[in-house]
Amino acid sequence: MLKFLIIYSSTDGHTKTICERIRDSSKNKETIKIISLEEAKSFDISTFYKIIIGASIRYGSHSKELYKFIQSNKDILDQKDNVFFSVNVVARKPEKNKPDTNPYIKKFIKTSQWKPKKIGVFAGKVSYPNYNFFDKYIIKFIMFITKGPTDTSQSYEFTDWEKVDDFAKQLWHNS
Ligand SMILES: Cc1cc2nc3c(=O)[nH]c(=O)nc-3n(C[C@H](O)[C@H](O)[C@H](O)COP(=O)(O)O)c2cc1C
Repeated sequence: MLKFLIIYSSTDGHTKTICERIRDSSKNKETIKIISLEEAKSFDISTFYKIIIGASIRYGSHSKELYKFIQSNKDILDQKDNVFFSVNVVARKPEKNKPDTNPYIKKFIKTSQWKPKKIGVFAGKVSYPNYNFFDKYIIKFIMFITKGPTDTSQSYEFTDWEKVDDFAKQLWHNS
């Protein structure tokens, strides 16, 4: 029986990978369904016991579609055990990698007016070779001013997978 729903809002797939890792750390994988935010829009989310939403940052914000989805489903979310996590590269910095120190989490809580029962934040990935010309050079510039890697022939994964596993353990400990 499906009991848990994980919804990912992802542009380049890394948030989906984190969601899969969270699912795979459960002993009861068959009770967990993962869907994209796009799929979630036409999906009955009300039958699940716990709903987890993971979303990435692009140019300073979570997607507008994410905010719309939360607004439309806030009542259902509030009735459930619910969890939110954000994926961004600012979180590679130790002083910005916790829910109360990450600027995007703070902005999300303020803007969405949803109070998730549990919040996480994970550092994402920069895959220069996969980006178009515009994105590549903007990200390179952001990395330069924030003292990050700027070799555009490389990909850089900043995700602390142990932290993801710890977070997942807390999600599944009663299931
Ligand atoms: C075009 C673009 C803009 C981004 N803007 C930001 C940003 O403003 N702040 C930040 O911390 N990370 C930013 N990132 C980094 C992403 O959040 C990171 O690559 C994340 O792993 C993407 O997850 P996804 O593959 O699930 O979309 C940006 C990445 C791209 C490609």
